Amino acid sequence: MPEPIIIDTDPGQDDAVALLLAFASRDELELRAITTVPGNVPVAQTTANALRIRDLGGAASVPVYRGAEVPLIVALETAEFVCGPDGLAGAGLPPPASVAEAGHAVEAIIAICRAAPEGSITLCPLGPLTNLALAFRLAPDILPKVKRIVLMGGAIGLGNMTPAAEFNMHVDPHAAAVVFGAGCPITMFGLGVTLQAIASHEQIERIGLLGNAVGKAIHGMLTRPRPGGLGTAGHPMHDPCVIAFLLWPELFAGRDCFVAVETGDGPLRGRTTIDWNGRLKREPNAHVVATVEAHELFERMIARLATLP
Ligand code: RIB
Ligand code: CA
Repeated sequence: MPEPIIIDTDPGQDDAVALLLAFASRDELELRAITTVPGNVPVAQTTANALRIRDLGGAASVPVYRGAEVPLIVALETAEFVCGPDGLAGAGLPPPASVAEAGHAVEAIIAICRAAPEGSITLCPLGPLTNLALAFRLAPDILPKVKRIVLMGGAIGLGNMTPAAEFNMHVDPHAAAVVFGAGCPITMFGLGVTLQAIASHEQIERIGLLGNAVGKAIHGMLTRPRPGGLGTAGHPMHDPCVIAFLLWPELFAGRDCFVAVETGDGPLRGRTTIDWNGRLKREPNAHVVATVEAHELFERMIARLATLP
């Protein structure tokens, strides 16, 4: 039986690759909904981008719901300096040929979870955690319906938005604190592992030679000039690690840790303190992934992407 999942996302180039990998994995994953959140770009654009990617992947049966307008408390900060003005620089995609569903993403998350058996729904947030936090606060009765939360966010070392914080955690630290405190099983993909997920030049060229529209779009995104000052070469595939873990967990390794999120508005805002060595003697609240077999991850991903239009 395919695992029922909801992908909450702020597309973003890496979100796009994650969505396409999910579209190409219908035997293992039943994508119940795509819910959009502001992050890389504002929510109007992340919603348009989710629709553009859905059109590209031929996944018209997957509903898209627009989510929160802004973070819970802090002002919205976006990342056009990284992903370009429309959030999908390099993809060369046309405007969306489809529209989002009526109704709010948070209501959709709640409705899907309420209708599901206990412990059956996997939530895959790829952006700031605003929608999940709102759903958990509005409808705490859905928590037992959540099998696991597999998320991209946080960092055991340097952040990428600030020295302290990874972008998704920085944008809505209060939402992150709600989610990490909700008691659901969490598997966390922070920068410590996602920065290892960089495709080789040869693999990127093979993606461009797949002969399908998906390969052309991904090649365009992965070969565009990367903005300076991010401290990394290449285009790390942060968000695809989440979907790849659902498909190929054997490619990853980590340990259960206590994780705390800094919600103050100083320089540590959004910091995820990951107690890797258990010094704080606190009950672990997340499985923190630390390593990935990156070459094999992309080999398997390329084979899946080849099955798309
Ligand atoms: O820090 C990287 C994360 O922030 C990724 O999910 C990227 O898409 C942005 O949302
Ligand atoms: Ca993202």
